[in-house]
Amino acid sequence: MNASTAEKYTEETILWIKRHTPKLMTFAISRPASYRFSAGQFSRLGIRDGAGFLWRAYSVLSAEYADTLEYFAVLIEDGAMSRHFEHMQPGDTLLLDKTATGFLLPGRFQDGRDLIMLSTGSGIAPFLSMLQQPELWQRFEHIALVHSVSYANELIFNHALASLAEHPLIGEYAGQFRFQAVVTREKVADALSLRLPELLKNGTLAEGLGLVFSPEDSRFMVCGNPAMVADTFKTLVDQGYRLNRNKLPGQILIENGF
Ligand SMILES: Cc1cc2nc3c(=O)[nH]c(=O)nc-3n(C[C@H](O)[C@H](O)[C@H](O)COP(=O)(O)OP(=O)(O)OC[C@H]3O[C@@H](n4cnc5c(N)ncnc54)[C@H](O)[C@@H]3O)c2cc1C
Ligand SMILES: NC(=O)c1ccc[n+]([C@@H]2O[C@H](COP(=O)([O-])OP(=O)(O)OC[C@H]3O[C@@H](n4cnc5c(N)ncnc54)[C@H](OP(=O)(O)O)[C@@H]3O)[C@@H](O)[C@H]2O)c1
Repeated sequence: MNASTAEKYTEETILWIKRHTPKLMTFAISRPASYRFSAGQFSRLGIRDGAGFLWRAYSVLSAEYADTLEYFAVLIEDGAMSRHFEHMQPGDTLLLDKTATGFLLPGRFQDGRDLIMLSTGSGIAPFLSMLQQPELWQRFEHIALVHSVSYANELIFNHALASLAEHPLIGEYAGQFRFQAVVTREKVADALSLRLPELLKNGTLAEGLGLVFSPEDSRFMVCGNPAMVADTFKTLVDQGYRLNRNKLPGQILIENGF
């Protein structure tokens, strides 16, 4: 390890690991006092790999003010980091790049009444961090989170979402929150079953959330499967929304979740 490489990361301890299904896990690592991120950004986590390193991006799930850094990982068959995560134990260490990155930041919208977060799979993670920021709730009248997964047992955050109502900083805003689950490969009560672009086209997503979508009032953030991000973005553009740019405000912010 040379000095310039060593300066770019710290070595952090894995504090706990929860394995929700064989391919879904959440875990927390120690947070260096100097580590700063904005809700919506991702960390680069690494391991030593032979003579080199293996680095992958993971969205921070915990709040900006949390003492630890929490992540949600989907394990991929034959994926190099997934293989490592499969056997990882509390007390082991992971490398943490000192710089958090990413532009999926709600502060980039200049205005808007309703914030709609559209996610598939691990794309829910940045939104779980944002939901814990009180200033976001002060800014938007309604905040809606939509999570699309293939099977019902992949909806692992239902309890955490329900307990937002008891969160000391967020609880008072619980009446502004809407959650809609989407389960695409089996029938589940209270969940919608079509993919997100179809649900936007046929109006059932807005109906399920009890919101009226419009370019004046709605701001969409999209994160997850890159094909979903592309298809959803195209659907929204066809419906009259446009990408938010720094110099040209719009209604859509996107990030490919892998
Ligand atoms: C900006 C960004 C944020 C990310 N945040 C997360 C996160 O919060 N949680 C997370 O689990 N992963 C996240 N990823 C993906 C992560 O970086 C790794 O790619 C993933 O953990 C698999 O690593 P791997 O080495 O096992 O396999 P890789 O060789 O990296 O991936 C193999 C293949 O698996 C598929 N894949 C990768 N990640 C996912 C995923 N999350 N869901 C479904 N299919 C996937 C892709 O088709 C990819 O080509 C993010 C990626 C990016 C670019
Ligand atoms: N989940 C599975 O059944 C399954 C099976 C074998 C392998 N894998 C692999 O396991 C990994 C993780 O899978 P994952 O299920 O967490 O993530 P994922 O494949 O991204 O699926 C998550 C959700 O995104 C939806 N989706 C996928 N493409 C979309 C698109 N173009 N537009 C709108 N919605 C879309 C899926 O719908 P659909 O269910 O309709 O695809 C599902 O509801 C991936 O590498 C995947 O290829 C998954």
